[in-house]
Amino acid sequence: MLVFLPLLMLSWGAHGGLPHPRPKCDRCDENFACDCSSSNLQEVPAVSTSVKSLDLSFNEIKTIGQDDLCDYSNLEVLILRSNVISSIAEQGFSTLNKLEVLDLSDNRLNDLSEMWFKRLSSLKHLNLLGNKYETFGKGSLLHSMVKLSTLIVGNPFLASVSEDSFIGPNHLQSFVFYGSGLKNYQPGSFSRINSIDEVTVSIDGPFQRDTALTTDILRDLSRPDTKIILSDLRISREQLMPFQVVFQKGVKSILLRNLSCSTDTIVSLLGMTQHSMLTSIGLEDCEFNGELTVSVEFPKLDFVNEIYVKNVKLAKFYIFPALHTITQLVQILTHLTRVAVIESNVFAMPHETTFLLYNLEYMDMSRNQLTDLTLREALCDGLRSACLPSITVFNISSNYIRSFQTLSHLFEGMKMLAALDLSLNVFHTMPEACAWPQSLRYLNLSSCQLRRVTACLPRTLHVLDLSYNDLTVFEHNMPNLTEVHLSGNRLKTLPEGRLFAHLEVLYIKGNPFISFSQNQISNYGSLRILEAGADTYVCSCEFVSFFKHELSHLVKLDRKQAYICSSPFALRGVEVTDAHLSVFECHASLAFSTLCAFVLVVVISAVVMCHKLHVVWYLQMTWAWIQAKRRPAARKDQVCYDAFVSYSERDVEWVEELLVPELEGAEPPFRLCLHKRDFLPGGWIADSIMAAMEKSHRTLFIVTEHFVQSDWCRFELEYSHFRLFDAAILIVLEPIPDSTIPKRFCKLRKIMNSRTYLEWPEEDSERPRFWQSLKDTLHMP
Ligand SMILES: *[C@@H]1O[C@H](CO)[C@@H](O)[C@H](O)[C@H]1NC(C)=O
Ligand SMILES: *[C@@H]1O[C@H](CO)[C@@H](O)[C@H](O)[C@H]1NC(C)=O
Ligand SMILES: *[C@@H]1O[C@H](CO)[C@@H](O)[C@H](O)[C@H]1NC(C)=O
Ligand SMILES: *[C@@H]1O[C@H](CO)[C@@H](O)[C@H](O)[C@H]1NC(C)=O
Repeated sequence: MLVFLPLLMLSWGAHGGLPHPRPKCDRCDENFACDCSSSNLQEVPAVSTSVKSLDLSFNEIKTIGQDDLCDYSNLEVLILRSNVISSIAEQGFSTLNKLEVLDLSDNRLNDLSEMWFKRLSSLKHLNLLGNKYETFGKGSLLHSMVKLSTLIVGNPFLASVSEDSFIGPNHLQSFVFYGSGLKNYQPGSFSRINSIDEVTVSIDGPFQRDTALTTDILRDLSRPDTKIILSDLRISREQLMPFQVVFQKGVKSILLRNLSCSTDTIVSLLGMTQHSMLTSIGLEDCEFNGELTVSVEFPKLDFVNEIYVKNVKLAKFYIFPALHTITQLVQILTHLTRVAVIESNVFAMPHETTFLLYNLEYMDMSRNQLTDLTLREALCDGLRSACLPSITVFNISSNYIRSFQTLSHLFEGMKMLAALDLSLNVFHTMPEACAWPQSLRYLNLSSCQLRRVTACLPRTLHVLDLSYNDLTVFEHNMPNLTEVHLSGNRLKTLPEGRLFAHLEVLYIKGNPFISFSQNQISNYGSLRILEAGADTYVCSCEFVSFFKHELSHLVKLDRKQAYICSSPFALRGVEVTDAHLSVFECHASLAFSTLCAFVLVVVISAVVMCHKLHVVWYLQMTWAWIQAKRRPAARKDQVCYDAFVSYSERDVEWVEELLVPELEGAEPPFRLCLHKRDFLPGGWIADSIMAAMEKSHRTLFIVTEHFVQSDWCRFELEYSHFRLFDAAILIVLEPIPDSTIPKRFCKLRKIMNSRTYLEWPEEDSERPRFWQSLKDTLHMP
């Protein structure tokens, strides 16, 4: 043991002591998607083991250890881009067999290992761009990824591609390859991927340096069904050779992106397409120096029907010739069915050119410099049917069009027009009535600074976008509308549902809604999707309850967190789902009447209790007692009666006919105090009683059942007890059983039990003796 212990400690020490806790990340939502990006993490953090999507981008993670991810076997998306990862354990991803998306771009991986990806058989998207690896490692990296559909690889340091590198994936939708520093390419490597829908290659370096290498690469990628995107080229006329193989192999669609060359070069390139199968030509983010002149030789492009041009800058765009003046182009123009010239400073197009585009179905002129004037020219000033007779989609989003009237006039004759995008122009107003082609189904008027819409809106629409305008009402009967965008306006209520019988999708976020009701939602017969998040809801009880319980059964809602209360004040800024209103706020009248009823019941029971428990009587007694305590004892000379007679009103007969004559008629006469006769009128009776008792030597209590029942008599009795009990004389007129004396009348009970009292005899013969005893008692000092 003694030998062992230090050894154990040593080995522990070698491992750096206890494993230090991993940083935590709890930015996860209800779908187990955790966003831990930009958190200065130096290692993979601890998150919920149910995590499905984990974003760790923009941190400082250096390595992926064997156990870092082993708990997250449900992971489907793992984003590790823009860290400083330089090593990954061989088994680092081995438990992630549900992983579909893996992004390792912009790290510092010097080598790639096929061991990492061995278990990732569900992987669909893999991004390895921007690291430092020079090869794709030994063996075949992608071997197990049979489901892969997006592959993004390469970096400036990549030097060689070998034949096994791309064994595995069968069909890629998108393949992106960056190899500007490539020096070796084993021919046939890219052919290992059976089919590719779209490939983006960035190989400017080989283009500059090594025509054979470039040709090998392009030969393997060029197939009739693959769209080729060549990006980041800076080429001259002499470097165009490798393109030959592209056109020979029957590529139909080519796009040049971030190309920088002279107009001559591009014309030469087009010249090479002669007799190719090319149908679609695209240019994106390109810059051409030099000028295009009418004299250039254009090839015959028999199959080309699609031209896509975006963000193309011509050094001298203002002297660009009208296309119809280039005779070789006339033929091409008549073949075109799809043309997009986006963001390229187009400010005019002569109507002669437009006339040639009679097969055109799709036209996108968005983000250019067209104005009302030049658009009128371009669209042949509305010359019916001669102008773009086949057009179905027309996009002039983000130009300088101002007049709605002009537009409706220009498009009226296009009998096939189904979609018109006028967004991001500045209209402000709209005429009261317009004419549109009957075929129009889609109209985009987003961000057009419209303050009001009128019956000018085509009633045939299925989709209408009026988002980000200044509308305060939208009440137009549009029977066939299925989707309407009204976000970012100033609407204060939902539009009337019965006007839109077929509406299925309503986007109406960011309007100042007060609130909406079940009725309003039910009025939309077909509504399925509602997006109405805003931070201006009046959270009434009805609204909060409807929102929490019924709304999601009626429609599919956007993020519930987007619905925020603005009033009542206590709930300002609170999410509607978190709003809690008390019963008092929600059912004020009910709560108030309940409260009133409760108070009433309490009061009534209190009154009943008081009555039952003789509270009033007790209070009176207490009051009298307090008075008695405070009253100074009567002085001797104030005593002026021999006896105060306390009796019940019911026994007045006995008192007046027998007692009074007997005692006042005696020799010497007794002075009796009777409340009926001797009290001063007007005083408070309790006061008078107390005064009378104090002015009398004795108090005679005429005890009968009535006496017991009488409050005043009891009071007198009680009072005598406080004050001058010894002076009390009880005359019991009739036998009173103990049980008939009420409980609270305990004093009397006590007296009756403990003291002798005079009993009124039944027989007449006994009475003289009674009177004698009474008189004797009264005489006693
Ligand atoms: C365009 O290509 C050049 C090389 O020809 C490259 O240096 C530049 O970064 C590219 N630009 C973009 C935006 O990719
Ligand atoms: C019109 O062009 C804009 C900007 O290029 C684009 O966002 C929009 O989707 C296009 N509209 C249609 C209907 O294609
Ligand atoms: C309408 O145009 C805007 C701006 O171009 C665009 O963002 C929006 O997606 C378009 N709306 C629809 C429904 O296509
Ligand atoms: C709405 O659609 C129906 C059926 O497709 C059609 O008959 C009717 O004319 C349309 N209404 C409008 C105003 O376009």
